[in-house]
Amino acid sequence: MKIQNRFTKDLTIDFPMIMAPMFLVSNLEMCLEAMRGGIAGTFPTLNFREKGQLEDILAKLNAAKNTPGNTGTYGVNIIVQKSNPLYAKHLQICVEAKVPFYITSLGSPEEVIKEAHKYGGKVYCDVTNLEHAKKCYDLGADGFIAVGQGAGGHAGPFPLMLLVPTLKSISPICR
Ligand SMILES: Cc1cc2nc3c(=O)[nH]c(=O)nc-3n(C[C@H](O)[C@H](O)[C@H](O)COP(=O)(O)O)c2cc1C
Repeated sequence: MKIQNRFTKDLTIDFPMIMAPMFLVSNLEMCLEAMRGGIAGTFPTLNFREKGQLEDILAKLNAAKNTPGNTGTYGVNIIVQKSNPLYAKHLQICVEAKVPFYITSLGSPEEVIKEAHKYGGKVYCDVTNLEHAKKCYDLGADGFIAVGQGAGGHAGPFPLMLLVPTLKSISPICR
């Protein structure tokens, strides 16, 4: 069984589902299991801060992605704000590994979108409101992650029952 829509086609996965990134929790095994299940596994790049760790997990995930029968994919959550001292280094490592997709959090996703699109990577931007969503859309984002009330660490002010229909109404990338 498969569910086909724009999102699953963009990521070549079986089901339109992301295993959400969790700081200090998401790991290699969880992402591999998501990929085996035909969905998208993700992890925050900041879970791998020691030298060589990020390169190592990306190599393992890329190897798994090319295994026959593996119908899922993986992506990384990257904090694009200056508060992340590893941002530039991590982006460079991810681009070199041709990470299939990115979830950007906090600041401007401009550089990630530019670099990912050079090799066909997709970028989905965390947004909490219409203003940020419009900026991301204009920069060429492939989609939004609607961060509503109760979403966790960086929760937005609006309930998803308002945020999601509003995003859908303004943007063709949400349809
Ligand atoms: C322990 C924990 C850590 C999280 N860390 C991150 C993170 O680093 N980046 C992020 O984008 N979201 C993070 N989140 C939010 C989740 O990715 C997800 O958006 C949130 O849990 C809502 O999804 P759910 O309703 O399926 O739980 C975290 C959530 C939890 C519970």
